[in-house]
Amino acid sequence: MLMPEAPILEIRPLTAEDIPRLSEIRPTYRTDTILAIEHSGSGYQVGWRLTERRLAQPFDKGGLYDFTPEMQQNIRARLNRGEAAYQRVAVADGQRLVGVLDMLWQAWNETAFIYNLMIDLDFRGQGIGQRLWHMAVRAAKNWNARAITLETQQTNIAACRFYARMGCRLVGLDESLYGNYTDDPESPIVEIALFWAYTLD
Ligand SMILES: CC(C)(COP(=O)(O)OP(=O)(O)OC[C@H]1O[C@@H](n2cnc3c(N)ncnc32)[C@H](O)[C@@H]1OP(=O)(O)O)[C@@H](O)C(=O)NCCC(=O)NCCS
Repeated sequence: MLMPEAPILEIRPLTAEDIPRLSEIRPTYRTDTILAIEHSGSGYQVGWRLTERRLAQPFDKGGLYDFTPEMQQNIRARLNRGEAAYQRVAVADGQRLVGVLDMLWQAWNETAFIYNLMIDLDFRGQGIGQRLWHMAVRAAKNWNARAITLETQQTNIAACRFYARMGCRLVGLDESLYGNYTDDPESPIVEIALFWAYTLD
């Protein structure tokens, strides 16, 4: 049996012409497990503990990560920042966009913030995210950044595993960013923001 040939993958700088085509990348995900938050204490002595929990129904991200016109506008605004932006696309077979990295230098706190690191559904688990991550680390070092920071959600187990594997440290969470969080297991899932940092020498 003939095996389909693996696509040739090129990683190059994002251009203005790429921006309307970012929707070629399907950034969504579906998951059977999430990181559940357990609370302890109260007031300023509150504590949080994250444990992976199986869901009765899979969680579907739907279109929440889609490259909407607003998101495209924000990516374009960062592109216009010139040297303060580091944006790369992964292109399969010289044609289709299959991944994007979108990072900005923040001089005020000497960090680099990753706004987007997205790999298309069919191209995950092939090391593309890792390649883009290593490029992000090099770019952040060139800026003399002290850290790379980013946010993902407790529903995004794949991303949490990915960032932990890349050496990032979970540095905080926000239970009120996307909605009013409740412990009630009967309530629909409210997403929680998880903040990660990768410290540079
Ligand atoms: C998270 C994401 C960027 C990872 O990209 P990827 O190209 O699939 O990741 P890689 O193949 O480079 O994986 C690198 C390492 O991360 C870990 N990893 C990646 N995906 C994983 C998963 N689903 N489960 C467990 N570990 C995973 C593995 O340790 C892997 O290394 P290994 O294969 O040597 O064990 C990708 O899943 C994605 O785009 N998801 C949807 C969009 C998204 O969530 N982006 C991040 C938003 S903040």
